[in-house]
Amino acid sequence: MPAPFTLPLTKLPVVELSKSPGKAGDIIVGIAAAGDVPTLIGVASDLEKEVRSAFGRDLVDVARDLGAKVAANHVAVLPTATRRVVVVGLGEDVDVDPETLRQAVAAATRKIAELEPGAPHRVAVSLDTTSADAVKAAVEGALLGAYAFAPLSAETEASKLESVTIVSASTASDVKAAFEAGRAIASAVCVARDWINLPANLLFPETFAESARTWLGGVKVKVDVLDERALEKAGFGGILAVGGGSDHKPRLVRVDYAPRGAKYHLVLVGKGITFDSGGYNLKPGPSMMTMKCDMSGAAAVLAAVHAIAELGLSIHVTAYASMAENLISGAAYRPSDVLTMYGGRTVENVNSDAEGRLVMADALARANEDEPDLVIDIATLTGACVVALGPEVAGLMASDDETADRVLDAAEAAGEPFWQLPITEKLRKGLKSKVADTKSGGGRFGGAMVAAAFLQQFVDEGTDWAHLDIAGPAFNEESPEGLVPAGGVGFGVRTLVSLAKALQG
Ligand code: BES
Ligand code: ZN
Ligand code: ZN
Repeated sequence: MPAPFTLPLTKLPVVELSKSPGKAGDIIVGIAAAGDVPTLIGVASDLEKEVRSAFGRDLVDVARDLGAKVAANHVAVLPTATRRVVVVGLGEDVDVDPETLRQAVAAATRKIAELEPGAPHRVAVSLDTTSADAVKAAVEGALLGAYAFAPLSAETEASKLESVTIVSASTASDVKAAFEAGRAIASAVCVARDWINLPANLLFPETFAESARTWLGGVKVKVDVLDERALEKAGFGGILAVGGGSDHKPRLVRVDYAPRGAKYHLVLVGKGITFDSGGYNLKPGPSMMTMKCDMSGAAAVLAAVHAIAELGLSIHVTAYASMAENLISGAAYRPSDVLTMYGGRTVENVNSDAEGRLVMADALARANEDEPDLVIDIATLTGACVVALGPEVAGLMASDDETADRVLDAAEAAGEPFWQLPITEKLRKGLKSKVADTKSGGGRFGGAMVAAAFLQQFVDEGTDWAHLDIAGPAFNEESPEGLVPAGGVGFGVRTLVSLAKALQG
């Protein structure tokens, strides 16, 4: 048994809401087109004066000469005597919508974090953000854009952004509340990113569960962790089979946020495979390289319930994170094994690399006992979904179109891309087994939908349910862009919080 180990989580910049940029050394302003004329946005008169005395010209002319562009998310840096002015393109319209703002602020803070890494920056975001929605977008963009997972090293790296001040002419209570919401949501996304980025020798079921318990201790939720003995006793045959091959034993974490007076019960279920080797259906080396990300669904539900509790939303939310490591050993489960899942249904395992659906099925079966109004599961479930929708878009499959639309609306408000896929009868029939109640997989085609058809068998009939396959967007193997960092993305957290907000009553 390893010594108790605390997982290192990224220290985030201090954020504040203020009517002025204060002592910030880096000040982000915008440039947009008013007709054909580039116009600066968010430049206070003292900054304008400072620039005129340094350069003898108007800021807008200096900015253009130094390469500032109206094009969305283009960033130019202008040094003045006392501070740096960071000019970000906001596009062709001076009336900027929240999503444009969020992306632009993210591009600007990422650029600042990359300038002289190691030097702590004090940043002000001055983009004429006065409405509640704009302030929320600005703080989300700032925290998410500045995030980068620091190398695990003997040398500790100072956080790149020390503080971020969101400048707003209004600090009315609705604006303050939106600022707090943006901060809580973006901070939760950053914790999810950290968990995803931590390698599987550090983050495994035991340490993941303990890290979740510690972090969630800061909000009003009840956390229960089932260890391998408790899982055995209750008959969680899917989680135990998948986790059986590893010395790091599986866990099921249940988090309950039950504010008084809540009328609606939302249950979230996340896939928490801390490493997916493929088991006896071993993955080829290159595909295994990113498989520390296979717990992104669990990270998303835990982060979402933290944010929901911190915001004090009036909705009962229960989150399950199903944690196991899919490895090979004499105790590992085999292709052709028949497993008895939670609740008694039996499954013929057709492929030990289709492990995610097994840990999810156990948790979905358990979730029925909570008598939820809606169940949402989220998982890096299938390579087939990445083939179908590419690396940026997540798949959505649901019990009915009304439920699908609810999730799609929440996702759109959050700015995360999803696309609905069907679950057809033919694919359902493909799961028939000769030796068990169901097979874990079907034919060669439509893998994302086959997985959904399998999962749906474990959700009580009549319960609204949606399945989110985030195998594509969970982990970014390319360069960071906009809100999306390199590595763990924390995809889905913002959609889940947005959905809870829409459902609260
Ligand atoms: N964790 C993988 C899915 C995945 C692929 C996530 C790429 C992120 C990026 C999952 O457990 C898996 O291996 N699924 C198999 C299912 C198949 C064996 C039925 C797949 O998609 O190939
Ligand atoms: Zn797998
Ligand atoms: Zn997997």
